[in-house]
Amino acid sequence: MLLEVRDLRVEFRTREGVAHAVNGVTYQVDAGETLAVLGESGSGKSVTAQAVMGILDMPPGRITGGEILFRGQDLLKLKEDERRRIRGAEMAMIFQDALSALNPVLTVGDQLAEMFVVHRGTSRKDARARAVELMDRVRIPAAAQRVRDYPHQFSGGMRQRIMIAMALALEPALVIADEPTTALDVTVQAQVMDLLAELRREYRMGLVLITHDLGVVADVADRIAVMYAGRIVESAPVHDLYKAPAHPYTRGLLDSIPRLDLKGRELYAIKGLPPSLTRIPPGCAFHPRCPMARDVCRTDPPPLYEVDQRRGSACHFWRECLDG
Ligand SMILES: Nc1ncnc2c1ncn2[C@@H]1O[C@H](COP(=O)(O)OP(=O)(O)OP(=O)(O)O)[C@@H](O)[C@H]1O
Ligand code: SF4
Ligand SMILES: [Mg+2]
Repeated sequence: MLLEVRDLRVEFRTREGVAHAVNGVTYQVDAGETLAVLGESGSGKSVTAQAVMGILDMPPGRITGGEILFRGQDLLKLKEDERRRIRGAEMAMIFQDALSALNPVLTVGDQLAEMFVVHRGTSRKDARARAVELMDRVRIPAAAQRVRDYPHQFSGGMRQRIMIAMALALEPALVIADEPTTALDVTVQAQVMDLLAELRREYRMGLVLITHDLGVVADVADRIAVMYAGRIVESAPVHDLYKAPAHPYTRGLLDSIPRLDLKGRELYAIKGLPPSLTRIPPGCAFHPRCPMARDVCRTDPPPLYEVDQRRGSACHFWRECLDG
């Protein structure tokens, strides 16, 4: 297994008290596999990713439990210099906002070349050539000229391609993409997502794709992990989950996607709001919003029940949910 997150817990000290952002997240990603991590804003998707990458703000953040195994080795036990090496060469992250992730005062060519110079000891001249190759690879027109341009001279979609090029430069085994297309127009979103999917196949890397858009994951992901209030509430192969969700929250998300065949029908919206992370409801955190909630849900937190070998649901009544 490439990446195994086990029972990860992260909290933040805030003025309102301790925010329980990640409350026992467990997920796995294999080489060549794409895991989509889905959930509403504030559900802990980015914090989990930052903990995996080793870029969590500590303080105010604190990892209070769990393991992050990368090729079997617990990253949380490594020294900072070992983590930094892994972060550069073996795992990389793509962020939502390329403009703030790229250095504004360096040409994109210099930034790409730097990766090879620093991590591989490549000569400046060869590194430049590699930078052009990479820009070509992510389909930036006239790459040989454009290596001399600065980030602000590119469109949003092109900048996102450059960030993808940076992330893939050293051919990492694992890439985490945190809402990589959210800031882009819909048509450009699809192009960037296709490119990412294609490169993932070519490099056989594991990809964690964070998104709150259930619509985009169907085509690109193998598995989905749905997060709610800092926990995985359902984890399943994409097609199984689309066919029949095993958690009422997933069902709510699916029912709120606009569908062409049901045009004109009013869209369903999950009632209420996600809980404050300083006061997560007891029992099942979803119970105040759940149409299926019963007494036991208010007191007993559901474990991640095994639905089948490849599927889990943190709902006491997953069977009923699955049956529709
Ligand atoms: N630097 C921080 N300081 C304090 N609290 C934080 C910090 N970063 C995250 N949190 C807390 O962790 C929670 C989860 O944040 P996270 O960024 O993981 O959400 P997310 O699922 O990625 O949401 P989004 O879809 O909006 O990106 C936040 O609601 C916030 O309470
Ligand atoms: S455990 Fe209860 S409240 Fe939670 S999702 Fe299942 S039915 Fe709803
Ligand atoms: Mg986020």
